[in-house]
Amino acid sequence: MRFKGLTIFVTGGAGFIGSAVVRHLLRDTAAHVVNIDKLTYAANLASLRSKEGSPHYFFEKQCICEAPGLRKLFEKYQPDAVMNLAAESHVDRSIDGPGEFIHTNIVGTFSLLQEALRHWRALSAERRARFRFLHISTDEVFGSLGDAGLFTETTAYAPNSPYSASKASSDHLVRAWRETYDLPTMVTNCSNNYGPYHFPEKLIPHMIIRGLAGETMPVYGDGKNIRDWLYVEDHARALTTVLERGAIGETYNVGGRNERANLHVVEAICDLLDELAPNAAGSHRRLISFVADRPGHDRRYAIDASKLERELGWYAEENFESGIGKTVRWYIEHKWWWQEILTRGYATSRVGLESNRKKSTDELIK
Ligand SMILES: NC(=O)c1ccc[n+]([C@@H]2O[C@H](COP(=O)([O-])OP(=O)(O)OC[C@H]3O[C@@H](n4cnc5c(N)ncnc54)[C@H](O)[C@@H]3O)[C@@H](O)[C@H]2O)c1
Repeated sequence: MRFKGLTIFVTGGAGFIGSAVVRHLLRDTAAHVVNIDKLTYAANLASLRSKEGSPHYFFEKQCICEAPGLRKLFEKYQPDAVMNLAAESHVDRSIDGPGEFIHTNIVGTFSLLQEALRHWRALSAERRARFRFLHISTDEVFGSLGDAGLFTETTAYAPNSPYSASKASSDHLVRAWRETYDLPTMVTNCSNNYGPYHFPEKLIPHMIIRGLAGETMPVYGDGKNIRDWLYVEDHARALTTVLERGAIGETYNVGGRNERANLHVVEAICDLLDELAPNAAGSHRRLISFVADRPGHDRRYAIDASKLERELGWYAEENFESGIGKTVRWYIEHKWWWQEILTRGYATSRVGLESNRKKSTDELIK
């Protein structure tokens, strides 16, 4: 069985994609998984409730910026691989408060690299040869596309938001630790994910939850911004494929050729809600409203994942239509999961607006 006898650190394992990776590793492989997570507002250990009690699963509450704590975990578990998914991930929040993004995404990746390097250098030659550090990044580092073209692994970095700039910085650090210190690193850059256990602030769950409540469904700008959507479980499989068979020092784009305009995404959700949770007042499309655009809103992302398909044999199993159907059904059937988050105080109000530009620099540093 895959990863038999190996211990894998998954940072950010209580988040959306990290929890999908942990569930996939525990379900489909023999790996021992150590979930290292600071448990920020975006974390939810309920996403891993089905795995609690597994003899292959360990949880450690730990910030990736704190080297001494990380060092203890490397010494305790002696991992064979690190998958780094811990991050501040919401673009709108990065506009209001970029400081946290700089800290976790850049300083945190630096601390993790340093501790991984220290651990790797002390391993036997055999284990050193097997060790991998996989850094999980985003296609947003490439900036915005025009009407045509795709991001490839050789596209120049041109990040436009504090979030994407912080991720771009961390990708560069990972590359440098490979080039300078020989740490066996790899990087993946993935398009927008969606699926079960997605925090309610992100576009798709936000719209489903508001639609179910009969509330307005606010679309940024003209709704024509295009994202390339990948079902989260396809991403989790891609990551373990790269971990297992990827070439050291390489980067791999991950995506499923599912470009959709935001308005199309919201309309698809409305149509599924009409079918699965009809509202006596009429079609959910009547709830769609257009609101002020996000500052610096990238127009189009589209990713070419053919290197990953060709070289490592990974293919997305879901297309947008099958994945969004599964997702809307999941949110209808798992109200307990997202209602717990709403109850503990998360507000569905808008963040990352133009008005924040009026904030003082001191506030933005926080
Ligand atoms: N969501 C997407 O569409 C997408 C697409 C491509 C790449 N990515 C990348 O994948 C990774 C995971 O994204 P996600 O959507 O699951 O994010 P998320 O916000 O759902 O989860 C992030 C997790 O990291 C943890 N975390 C945050 N700061 C930490 C710190 N300092 N120390 C330890 N843990 C910390 C949080 O508690 C949370 O559990 C990120 O690196 C993100 O940049 C996301």
